[in-house]
Amino acid sequence: MRILGIESSCDETAVAIVDDGRTVVSGVVTSQIDIHKKYGGVVPEIAARSHIEAITPALEQAFEAGKTNWDEVDAIAVTKGPGLLGALLIGSLTARTLALTKNKPLYGVDHVKAHAYVNWLMDEQPEFPVLALIVSGKHSQIVIFESHEKYTMLGQTIDDAIGEAFDKVSKMIGFGYPGGPALAKAAENGDPHAYKLPAPHTENPYDSSFSGLKTAVLRKLQDICGKDYRFPSFEIAPLLSEQQINDMSASFQYSAVKYIVDKVKRAFDEYQPKSVIIGGGVAASQELRKQLQEAIPQEINYAPIEHCTDNAIMIATLGFYHAQNHQPDDAVHMEVNPSLSM
Ligand code: KG4
Ligand code: ZN
Repeated sequence: MRILGIESSCDETAVAIVDDGRTVVSGVVTSQIDIHKKYGGVVPEIAARSHIEAITPALEQAFEAGKTNWDEVDAIAVTKGPGLLGALLIGSLTARTLALTKNKPLYGVDHVKAHAYVNWLMDEQPEFPVLALIVSGKHSQIVIFESHEKYTMLGQTIDDAIGEAFDKVSKMIGFGYPGGPALAKAAENGDPHAYKLPAPHTENPYDSSFSGLKTAVLRKLQDICGKDYRFPSFEIAPLLSEQQINDMSASFQYSAVKYIVDKVKRAFDEYQPKSVIIGGGVAASQELRKQLQEAIPQEINYAPIEHCTDNAIMIATLGFYHAQNHQPDDAVHMEVNPSLSM
């Protein structure tokens, strides 16, 4: 079954074609990072407008790169949430229009669940029960999958997501958006134990709170600069030495990753899954991959880094499994859901 996937929930316009949820025919990602960088984060209205400009060229490129055509496409899968309303609407309107004009079944899928599905592209398939850690700029979810359709979210963030914390700390120490990769690079030359940071308590042990960790970083930085808690975060960076920046990058990365890895380990011990998988932009973190493998007493088969950040391959892959168990959506009326939850 050849599925065309469309993703537009945030700042990447992506189109991919995948066979049987397994074989990538083509995958195109048009990133808007350079456009949003100067604002220090994603501007929703600009994102929506950029998707309008990027979606048709991305579709053309996906067909061209895959040397395929509409006759060979069996269905369309599209992100219906969660995400930015205006951004989601561009992808879904495109998918609905194509479903109607090309006469193809349409499946709206969950972006967060889809992040886990890049693991089903691998030669070695995850085995149920699967314990999944989905960590991105907006999500920090620990999910146990009994099957493709039966799953329980054990915990999620009660405030900021882990990627969001990476981005905010990165901003404080003077790196741009998105912060994860820049912070990871600086951390290579820093001491992860230079600054001690807390592991915020949550009532449900599988939930997480990254806002508390971010605030602890702010207080520590104000302290390093000899300022009190009223000193603005955006004035801190110029007062820091390169070593202090590297040390805070390493300390924050180590603590944030350890905090979430401890929770996954706890879930592993309680649920004894056959496979452990990770997905989402923060799953690109080498520190996360290292700490998780050290904590889990079975070999983890990590998905390639290029499939962890937002893309449409994951949408087409989840679309394949979704299509096995669901009727197609109504292309005339399908709605998006910005706060869709697993
Ligand atoms: O999944 P994604 O592309 O978009 C969302 O759905 O949010 O994730 C983006 C997030 C950003 O917060 C970015 O800083 C983070 O993933 N990220 C990383 C790394 N690469 C990207 N965080 C930590 N370490 C990395 N190497
Ligand atoms: Zn994402």
